[in-house]
Amino acid sequence: MPTFSHCTLSRFLVENEQPPLHACHDLDALILDVALICKSIAKTLALGVLADAAGSGGAVNIHGEVQKSLDVVSNDLFVHGTQGSGHLAGLASEEMQHPYQVPDVYPRGKYLLVFDPLDGSSNVDVNVSVGSIFSVLRAPQDVVATGRDVREEDFLQSGREQVAAGYALYGPVTMLVLTLGHGVYGFTLDPGLGDFVLTHPMLRVPADTQEFAINSANARFWEPPVTRYIEECVAGSSGPRQKDFNMRWVASMVAEAHRILMRGGVFLYPQGTKESGRAGRLRLLYEANPIGLVVEQAGGRAIAGVLPTLDVQPTALHQRVGLMFGSRDEIERLARYHTEQPCHH
Ligand code: F6P
Repeated sequence: MPTFSHCTLSRFLVENEQPPLHACHDLDALILDVALICKSIAKTLALGVLADAAGSGGAVNIHGEVQKSLDVVSNDLFVHGTQGSGHLAGLASEEMQHPYQVPDVYPRGKYLLVFDPLDGSSNVDVNVSVGSIFSVLRAPQDVVATGRDVREEDFLQSGREQVAAGYALYGPVTMLVLTLGHGVYGFTLDPGLGDFVLTHPMLRVPADTQEFAINSANARFWEPPVTRYIEECVAGSSGPRQKDFNMRWVASMVAEAHRILMRGGVFLYPQGTKESGRAGRLRLLYEANPIGLVVEQAGGRAIAGVLPTLDVQPTALHQRVGLMFGSRDEIERLARYHTEQPCHH
């Protein structure tokens, strides 16, 4: 059984290797590349070097150069930091309409990397926490065998197929939260060492909670089960739940997911009613699935309506989905409300 005192991310990966070891080495190397990229993004954000560029992609700087938004800068860091490693067959991200082909000059590998390089980026302007989210999938056999270009359909794998997933949170400290499918581990960036150090082994989402997060400005679009759940929370100790709730909304999903991992809670960005035509806001492949795997691996739940998020079969690279995740008991209650008859108060 490995001991984790003063355990860096690289040591953790080595100590957690499971047969076949050669497969582990490739995945470890990919995770370390991602960790390095997240350190670069953290540094970029912290230095404020590009503060003027935040949210102002397309503006011209004092040198007459067109500035890139931090989303694009972060996306470039992901692409350039992984494409030459030999571990990836292709990449896809929120910032790129189509899958990215690893250029021919580099060897192609057996994994696909799907990511949201800077989630909640509108929060950069107001100095509130943001994050990066990533998901690792296996490339289809024929891609690995022939080295052919990747296609959109290669990425359309359900969340259960993820080999690894996690996020970096750029807050007062930078953290990396990771699952390789056997529990969830949180690492904190030690600025002195310049390394991620294991600080939160085997994270567990508390099963119960009295805290919810939802953008209630969308209340008129909610479906009845969500309205019922929120109304009951708001009714507090004088309603059917017989306890008071608290509400939070950071508008930065990684920050909300992290809060929920630390102390429990639920996050809801549900799909709207059919009439509203709102399919949900968050993207299945690089937001809902990686966060869903992390939350499930920590003993929480993640659903899209009645279905576990990880069981949704993707149909498009940038597909949106209604997403609700967090403490097990509350999410199971929400799932139950979705299957029960509409409740008439
Ligand atoms: O990318 C989506 C996102 O920025 C999430 O990080 C966040 O939870 C959500 O959008 C906020 O949405 P809204 O602006 O509707 O509150």
